Amino acid sequence: MGSIAVLADDTNYRESKAAETHDQYLQKGVRHLCERGLTRIPTKYILPKEERRNDSAIGAKTILKLPIVDFTQLQDSRSRPQALNSLTKACEEFGVFQLINHGINDDVILRMTDVSKRFFDLPFDERSKYMSKDMASPARYGTSFNQNNDKVFCWRDFLKLSCNPLSDSIPSWPSSPVDLRETVVNYSKNINFLYLKLMEAVLESLGLKETTKSLKSEKTDTRTNTSNEFEDGSQLIVMNCYPACPEPDLTLGMPPHSDYGILTLLLQDEVEGLQIQHQGKWVTVEPLPNSFIVNVGDHLEIFSNGRYKSVLHRVVVNSSMSRVSVASLHSLPFDTVVRPSHKLVNEANPPRYRDTDFANFLEYIASCEHQRTSKSFLESRKLDD
Ligand code: OGA
Ligand code: NI
Repeated sequence: MGSIAVLADDTNYRESKAAETHDQYLQKGVRHLCERGLTRIPTKYILPKEERRNDSAIGAKTILKLPIVDFTQLQDSRSRPQALNSLTKACEEFGVFQLINHGINDDVILRMTDVSKRFFDLPFDERSKYMSKDMASPARYGTSFNQNNDKVFCWRDFLKLSCNPLSDSIPSWPSSPVDLRETVVNYSKNINFLYLKLMEAVLESLGLKETTKSLKSEKTDTRTNTSNEFEDGSQLIVMNCYPACPEPDLTLGMPPHSDYGILTLLLQDEVEGLQIQHQGKWVTVEPLPNSFIVNVGDHLEIFSNGRYKSVLHRVVVNSSMSRVSVASLHSLPFDTVVRPSHKLVNEANPPRYRDTDFANFLEYIASCEHQRTSKSFLESRKLDD
């Protein structure tokens, strides 16, 4: 693509900039673009036709009611078996469910969404202090999906905050808004507790635990991923901002991807935007108040030897409303090898995935432009049948 063609569609850039290149300008993200009163999207955001959403015409959109898992039911021994059934079915058939009655205080959740909005509302110079290309940085502000490699950018800015361990990470997190650190600490602790309770249920549903004992009481087993590894795992909080987009049919807020870890707990505001692929079709997930969307990640698919499926999902944007979401990504410790649980493999059911660790994943995403069609990382870990 010639640079003249790139610039021709971007009046704002042509009028305002001389010193920085067009690419440097776009690296500042979509909030920054929108603040300049954009009426067309720059070429860099325009997806090839076959990768665009094609469901925005009236009547074309499919709305899906996700399977529901009731956390309170899971915690009660009388109703637990039924709730475990719902969980199993959801993880096998959808790779995702809505978690209701999760027990986290409204205030913790409202404050988290609110502080995320206020962070993205800060002046660009304040937000940009946290821009970093270093994937290991405990606080990273950026744009698109995989900013260093994406040929086409997506309509999303983000702030990623690592929580491992919290005490070491917090001093690197943004100090503005003033209540950001406290709010995220509180939120992340609550969500991590919920995650660990969910993992007890997941292990039980896979037949890997007989009772609902605390995870800590499990004995260490060197041949498989143990409960303690779930408990000592890593947590990344990702605040996503998808501003209203003047040409929402030409681009996406996030391209199709599956999350790499064990589970992701997603909090979304009332604006719809998340879509999952189900039975080969893209369907919109209806926001359900007071719930979390829980995704199966690639590592859980591997650990369960393919019984639980990570879900391919994407984000669409719209022309009138901006949307904020907060994802909490949970995985095993960075240096842990993820492999099919030895209790789930035998001669008749051999391992279907290669051993994988976080380093493999980082190498993979650094080396290729993200493929916008499939669960490509996981595919690369599959063993031939
Ligand atoms: C993610 C993600 C979906 C959303 O952060 O990995 O898929 O709705 N987010 O923001
Ligand atoms: Ni995701």
